[in-house]
Amino acid sequence: MAIKMVINADFPKEKISKNIYGHFAEHLGRCIYGGFWVGKDSPIPNTDGIRIDVVEALKKVDIPVLRWPGGCFADEYHWRDGIGPYEDRPKTINTHWGGVVEDNSFGTHEFFHLCELLGADPYICGNVGSGTIQEMREWIEYITFDGPSSLAELRKANGREKPWKLPYFGVGNESWGCGGNMRPEYYADLYRRYSTYVRNFSDNRIYKIACGASDFDFRWTEVLMREAGRFMDGLSLHYYTVPGDWSNKGSATEFDEREWFVTMKKTLVMDDLITRHSSIMDYYDPEKRVGLIVDEWGTWYDVEPGTNPGFLYQQNTLRDALVAGINLNIFNNHCDRVHMANLAQTVNVLQAMILTEGERMVLTPTYHVFYMYKVHQNSRLLPVEIENSQYSYKDDSIPQVSVSSSKDDQNRIHISLCNLDPNSYAHISCELRGADKSNVSGTILTADQMNVHNTFDEPDKIEPVEFHGASIAGNSLDIKLPPKSVVVLTLE
Ligand code: AHR
Repeated sequence: MAIKMVINADFPKEKISKNIYGHFAEHLGRCIYGGFWVGKDSPIPNTDGIRIDVVEALKKVDIPVLRWPGGCFADEYHWRDGIGPYEDRPKTINTHWGGVVEDNSFGTHEFFHLCELLGADPYICGNVGSGTIQEMREWIEYITFDGPSSLAELRKANGREKPWKLPYFGVGNESWGCGGNMRPEYYADLYRRYSTYVRNFSDNRIYKIACGASDFDFRWTEVLMREAGRFMDGLSLHYYTVPGDWSNKGSATEFDEREWFVTMKKTLVMDDLITRHSSIMDYYDPEKRVGLIVDEWGTWYDVEPGTNPGFLYQQNTLRDALVAGINLNIFNNHCDRVHMANLAQTVNVLQAMILTEGERMVLTPTYHVFYMYKVHQNSRLLPVEIENSQYSYKDDSIPQVSVSSSKDDQNRIHISLCNLDPNSYAHISCELRGADKSNVSGTILTADQMNVHNTFDEPDKIEPVEFHGASIAGNSLDIKLPPKSVVVLTLE
């Protein structure tokens, strides 16, 4: 039986912030070192030490914002270690991620240069766990002050005359865990204190993001909104899709339908989480001034066999593409409250967009979903009603189709759809209300097997191709979604 769907094209809602398509890069494993940064003397083609291939690939998905330097790493990072001549930078220990030596060759100047090359806004996460207020304040002055202070002079002496723009700043990361094991009451007070000194120097204006909850910790959101809501612009939320449990998360590539189903089911939890955290925020902030910033999300599996367990390197299959598509649909549909989201993590870590090995680079299925979905960036959300069918596995079931829709400033309508069922087509009969469109085109990402992925030897095994399964007649749109697929349609 066909699934019935209605798109209300004449009732565009809020703008889907382009920042929902944001990313996260931590000093973790080979994300920064090897992933983004190879150093100026590397034989791998680079611009001042930054890989050209990775930058070019991320520009193609219109990467809007990049969060750095962590993660857990942020709460042990001291920015002064990462400025000045390389040979003078101290060697420190990355205690969270493998205990490896951090030579600090990628620091503030390198990060801002990377953002400039990408055309992305910088989002820095500051150190509350083990850093001082003074250190945090001075970092911001060093970056943004357009005047003759000693810190601005130091920046100039290190090669950057003009200040940079720093639009987003996070006050600590996971302060309930690796960022200091705090209680929400204590962190709320600390947030109020630290954030006071997150200054707007010169004409820079900072959107301040407080550390928010993980998963179902609604009490954290409640306390933070009650005690500190008026001092923040954004409140974060972290949620990872882990098919197993934390001691046995499951393989990224070797899985059966049971694990596929569980992964889909667990990733759909994001919708419920956002709804419930948002409703607490609504109570304290009915105008929805404070954004929910989902600044860590994605799949987390066991590391690839034979790799450093502290480096969180995992492969990325069609299953991850579905996870990406489903979450991006969820964020789009909650764009009244979700103002930014940052996939963890951009290169070589967790649900990566890109994998590298020496000079080689491969684009993952997740990357392809971000490419297909970029049409939603800054478009207006269109309300979609759906009478969904169910994807059943054994005695459990979940909705078969995930969807979101938007209208761009050229009046084109975009519809992104995921068929979660690996065995059955979804036949959708869609009524388009309030729009007169005569042409439908689209792209699809799918494969024969659930675990198909790109490798360095076969980098193009899975990539988007033209989709011919949709037709339009009058205001009726007919769509035949293949099993386990992600499809993006454009109506003109
Ligand atoms: O993304 C990996 C880690 O997950 C981050 O460092 C931390 O914030 C979270 O627990």
